[in-house]
Amino acid sequence: MDRLEIRGGRRLDGQVYISGAKNATLPILAAALLADEPVVLKKVPHLNDVTTTVKLLRRMGVDIIFHDGVRLEVDPRGITEFVAPYELVKTMRASILVLGPLLARFGQADVSLPGGCAIGARPVDLHVSGLRAMGAEIAIEQGYIRARAKRLRGARLVLDTVSVTSTENLMMAATLAYGETVIENAAREPEVIDLANFLVSMGARIEGAGTDTIHVQGVDSLAGTEYTVLPDRIESGTYLVAGAITGGRVRINHTCPEHLDAVLAKLDEAGAKLTMGRDWVELDMAGRRPKAVDLRTAPYPAFPTDMQAQFCALNAIAEGSGAITETIFENRFMHAQELQRMGADLVIKGNTAITRGVAELTGAPVMATDLRASASLVLAGLAASGTTVVDRIYHIDRGYECIEEKLAQLGADIKRLPS
Ligand code: UD1
Repeated sequence: MDRLEIRGGRRLDGQVYISGAKNATLPILAAALLADEPVVLKKVPHLNDVTTTVKLLRRMGVDIIFHDGVRLEVDPRGITEFVAPYELVKTMRASILVLGPLLARFGQADVSLPGGCAIGARPVDLHVSGLRAMGAEIAIEQGYIRARAKRLRGARLVLDTVSVTSTENLMMAATLAYGETVIENAAREPEVIDLANFLVSMGARIEGAGTDTIHVQGVDSLAGTEYTVLPDRIESGTYLVAGAITGGRVRINHTCPEHLDAVLAKLDEAGAKLTMGRDWVELDMAGRRPKAVDLRTAPYPAFPTDMQAQFCALNAIAEGSGAITETIFENRFMHAQELQRMGADLVIKGNTAITRGVAELTGAPVMATDLRASASLVLAGLAASGTTVVDRIYHIDRGYECIEEKLAQLGADIKRLPS
């Protein structure tokens, strides 16, 4: 398994280009199943989760061609299988996103249950009950969700938890359903809007994406399209924290500053000087140590759970004490123990991580069991004295494109140690 070796203590200074968003690409690839014609996607990030989705679609008979690094043609016309098998779903929960499109377009889908996950229980009840309300027959058998429907019917769906992929799955299913679907208490994440924009570009009729009520008028078919994926706000936030944690100056290009409000507010509170333009943000810590911040994760537009671990690392070396409360997923503090091994003064009380910042962390061999936790250890390693080796970086490769190249470009001393 590859590892990352980081010699910390260098102040980062430079610019990086932000990739297309993982969490927009995955539902958009699944949504391509709904089309009668090929679709072309641009700014597709080169990530393991994208590779897994491509594998999944290819196994169904979908033809996928990479034209250059970031342009992908997806032709769903040759689809012959409607199955998402366990061996792929277990490596990536987002595989559940094929459920709605397969069912809506082909009337059948057998999708493995994702099972437990390192960051908590993460059930799929909202996906299943929403599709049932739209007329699907769904059985849970031998670890699979087996769904069948002649044609889905529009319905009023009230989600009892704000859930990103459930909102996306149901919105995709509704595009080809008969009549109107209303999704209430919908997730408002920018990736939901990006998916809606993609679907609309194929001919879907959707209003209200980005609010908590989405209206979808079903249509008979969806056409091919060409679409550019939005920039990754979590990658954006991670590089800004990399600047802040090293007392450095980092400019991120090709981003959407308006999607980063909650994160930028906390970086401002931490003492960073922030300037921004239409598609860039620059953070300057001017050699200062950040101030610790308190925060609470919640659905968009509040502070994202996917940035929580990175801010734990920031608080670990900040001046003062900070309390970080996780409200979306239980058991999402796997980075805490590893940060402690690097010298962080951090305790977990219930769903809150309380940190008393130390002046310096020390490098250590560390590893984490999820994507964002691993990213937080890389950030800690950048700020620590000595050498940090982050193991199991396949987690990072699921969600950060070329992380070592991008950090090296900012002046970090980082290299990949192949297994
Ligand atoms: C998505 C993101 C992930 C992010 C998360 C929260 C993708 C591919 N992944 O994950 O990076 O961390 O949103 O912003 O976009 N829940 C239920 N029943 C369900 C579904 C979810 O109770 O059927 C609960 C979950 O346990 C959790 C909450 O809803 O407590 C939110 O989870 P959800 O938004 O669904 O997360 P994902 O869509 O899996």
